[in-house]
Amino acid sequence: MHLIQASSRFLKFAIQKPSGTRFQILNRLIRNPISGFERVYSTAAATMGTVETDVELLRKSVIEKQNIVEKQGDEVRALKASKASKEAIENAINQLKELKLELQSVSKELQSRLSEDSGGAMSKEAFRQAVNNTLERRLFYIPSFKIYRGVAGLYDYGPPGCAVKANVIAFWRQHYVLEENMLEVDCPCVTPEVVLKASGHVDKFTDLMVKDEKTGMCYRADHLLKDYCKDKLEKDLLLSPEKVNELKQVLAVLDELSAEALGAKIKEYGITAPDTKNPLSDPYPFNLMFATSIGPSGLSPGYLRPETAQGIFVNFKDLYYYNGNKLPFAAAQIGQAFRNEISPRQGLLRVREFTLAEIEHFVNPDDKSHPKFKNVADLEFFLYSREEQMALKSPIKIRLGEAVAKGTINNETLGYFIGRTYLFLTALGIHKERLRFRQHLQNEMAHYAADCWDAEIECSYGWVECVGLADRSAYDLKAHTEKSAVPLVAHETYPEPREVEKLVITPAKRELGLAFKKNQKMIVEALEAMSEAEAMELKAHLESEGKAPFQVCTLGQTVTLTKDMVSISKEIKKEHQRVFTPSVIEPSFGVGRIIYCLYEHCFYTRPSKAGDEQYNVFSFPPLLAPIKCTVFPLVQNEKYEVTAQLISKSLTGAGISHKIDITGTSIGKRYARTDELGVPFAITVDSETSVTIRERDSKEQIRVSVEEVASVVKEVTEGQSTWGDVLWRYPTHTTNTADD
Ligand code: ATP
Ligand code: GLY
Repeated sequence: MHLIQASSRFLKFAIQKPSGTRFQILNRLIRNPISGFERVYSTAAATMGTVETDVELLRKSVIEKQNIVEKQGDEVRALKASKASKEAIENAINQLKELKLELQSVSKELQSRLSEDSGGAMSKEAFRQAVNNTLERRLFYIPSFKIYRGVAGLYDYGPPGCAVKANVIAFWRQHYVLEENMLEVDCPCVTPEVVLKASGHVDKFTDLMVKDEKTGMCYRADHLLKDYCKDKLEKDLLLSPEKVNELKQVLAVLDELSAEALGAKIKEYGITAPDTKNPLSDPYPFNLMFATSIGPSGLSPGYLRPETAQGIFVNFKDLYYYNGNKLPFAAAQIGQAFRNEISPRQGLLRVREFTLAEIEHFVNPDDKSHPKFKNVADLEFFLYSREEQMALKSPIKIRLGEAVAKGTINNETLGYFIGRTYLFLTALGIHKERLRFRQHLQNEMAHYAADCWDAEIECSYGWVECVGLADRSAYDLKAHTEKSAVPLVAHETYPEPREVEKLVITPAKRELGLAFKKNQKMIVEALEAMSEAEAMELKAHLESEGKAPFQVCTLGQTVTLTKDMVSISKEIKKEHQRVFTPSVIEPSFGVGRIIYCLYEHCFYTRPSKAGDEQYNVFSFPPLLAPIKCTVFPLVQNEKYEVTAQLISKSLTGAGISHKIDITGTSIGKRYARTDELGVPFAITVDSETSVTIRERDSKEQIRVSVEEVASVVKEVTEGQSTWGDVLWRYPTHTTNTADD
């Protein structure tokens, strides 16, 4: 293999895009210098569906009624001008008043439908506020460096937040690493420049930024355009159907837009800086990596890693060996990633340091079947394919097996991870109806990628990408092979030797040495690294002209070769094995985003018994709950406290995280306090021999002996039994004192 410095191949790699959606920008610019928006837009418009929704009909009606009101206004003015009879004028005015009332009522209806469709603009904000207030008050998270007024995009997790995160990570390890026998690694966050240069991050890990031309404030260009379109669609009642479609198309293709296309739309819509209304600069790429240097000299540049994946790729050779030189296998890594986000505005969703859990599943590119696909093939959930998005249709609930069979999802292995991710997220407490897998649009995806899907979860901020699942083909391993000169490849031994046609390139080192002296070595390397197409083109040129120009990237110049300087032929050879670069399928989980969506999906409020207060509840499944159980003595009494300590000891023995609350507040208040932390079970000690266990959401209680209580709680928190099961086995307890 001679992948080191082929001239044109080097350029090809240089325009490719590593993980994430950000690399598409330069990539697209090079491939489609001006197209971007226009091309995508026209494709979308051509395939657009014609179904009219209620909202669109209401919009039409508002416009019609607005026109009628205007006409009637003209009529009134005309009557007045022509000095018509008082009666005629009064009749016309009364008619105008009625028409205005009708217009008002349809407009109101439309307004309420629009805010319903967007989750109820006001209630969404109020809901988010309630969730975040609770999270902050109960120290699930704390804005980092708060006493110094904090730093945007940086958050600490407090005690319950840490426990929730530890639970998510433990379940992730069990669900993926353990289940699939993955090879886990733990690599440094500080990464030398060469690694991220090879992966493409140094050149292309960018978002498009615009600046307030007067104050210099920075904004993400696509976010401003998104906000503008959403705002218009939600609030402008007089939008024509054409305009509504146009804005929806812009939203549908937002991730695909080039800098030029984004800039053109920002100008066309007259979008200004949100804080000052000043004009904005043209969009330009901003690299999101935090730069540093390694060691005291300052001569060795490095970066904080923007993803954990590269640590796995650079270790491929050793991991492949560790796995007995066999494919497929997967490696996994959980760790911090750093991105200097331009303007982090969505609380815990867009932060500058976050935990990623990533899997790189290496496969033979010719065989992407998965032996366990049948285990997930019957799952049914929402897929939002490229076609549905372009046609402005809704996601479709479909059997996973069918989606793979139809080719909507490219291959079984990718389908398998999509299915496993559905199971992972819903087991943690994500609502099935608020989870969908969205396929990347053609240009949103890097061109080397075979297929990409994002697990998106709906929350008060809209649909949020929480997991990216991509078939990245052989891009990463090839890029590191090229840069490091260490072949990151796999071998397949044939049962019988095979006859194959091989390209043989033999540089004539003597002639090249005489002609090019010290440059001979680089020319030889470039010749050996040619692709078959390049080699055959050079051969044809040399044969017809006797000489040919040859570009040597490492020299930065084109040299003229003559026929005697290289021999190029194809020969039939016997091969015993095949050497190839594996493809990689990468599920990448943003742990913090999943956790935030879980907080929103699990949060609800319920009135106190007297109805005068609202209590907050996090309905975390036991798997996720930061504390599995609380223990309270019913009243402050030494005997009950001793029993509570005894129960605590047996809970510790059973490995159940718990908390004792011996404060003197009412039992109802204490229940409310634990509900707000999402504790699923509460044990109340009201005798020395037996106690009650209360389930958080139903508020039902059972009576259990002190000896048995820890094992019952263990059973229901670890999922061996449901609450329904134990409710049958033990006497229920009714109370008048509890639950204010
Ligand atoms: P986005 O388009 O939202 O910026 P991305 O496409 O760049 O995300 P990836 O590079 O695919 O994201 O990263 C993988 C996962 O990392 C995402 O699915 C997301 O859950 C998480 N992630 C990315 N950026 C952030 C961030 N700034 N804060 C928190 N999580 C993030
Ligand atoms: N288990 C006692 C009470 O709820 O009052």
